[in-house]
Amino acid sequence: MNNPQKRLRFLITAGPTVEPIDPVRFLSNRSSGKMGFALANQAKKLGHEVILVAGPTQLKAPKNVNLISIQTALEMHDQVLKNFVHADIIIKAAAVCDFRPQNFQAQKIKKEGIAENWQLNLVRNPDILAKLGQLKQKQQLLVGFAAESEDIKQNATKKLAAKNLDWIVANDISQSQTGFQADENEAWLIGPNEELFLPRTSKENLAKQIVQFLAKQKGF
Ligand code: CTP
Repeated sequence: MNNPQKRLRFLITAGPTVEPIDPVRFLSNRSSGKMGFALANQAKKLGHEVILVAGPTQLKAPKNVNLISIQTALEMHDQVLKNFVHADIIIKAAAVCDFRPQNFQAQKIKKEGIAENWQLNLVRNPDILAKLGQLKQKQQLLVGFAAESEDIKQNATKKLAAKNLDWIVANDISQSQTGFQADENEAWLIGPNEELFLPRTSKENLAKQIVQFLAKQKGF
């Protein structure tokens, strides 16, 4: 151990975001949150401090992790930025909705009076990870996830550079056994100068390998 600090501070995001249309309807995605929760659980088990910013999931919060529950991408953005400066390692496993409805309708939208081909206007959410890439300090490790259904490594490598990341975890969401809802996963861990393949295993085990790999980079 060449780091005087006893433990690292992890900031991890997980799950989907939920973008409300009206009081009963929303836009979201298929993220189960399992990978992000597994990362938080393993980081805690390995003795680190963990803040987990998570959208709605069916999962129980890992023990002794500081869980901040959010719904929307804008709420995730605010919580992540608030907690970012003190973090040593930031892992953005959340599946953030890229768009949100332009207007939230306070009352339930009734179909009466709406045309057959009604169109919902969407606006772009901020890219939280890209913003962190601009703000990050030299001593911080910034890690993104790339959920891809084709050209996995190429697309992930583009995101690594575009968002100024130290590492990106690339996984293939088109495979039912390793995708969003699955309990297993396999991934490429890609950095600017090296890459390694983490073969299919439980999400907990994969998370442990990722946490150990990143902690080692910080001298742990
Ligand atoms: N991400 C983010 N904020 C967004 C969108 C994505 O922080 N508004 C982060 C995710 O948490 C993930 C990484 O960016 O770590 C990549 O997300 P992904 O959905 O794979 O890609 P996008 O950048 O959204 O690009 P695209 O949807 O076009 O593949």
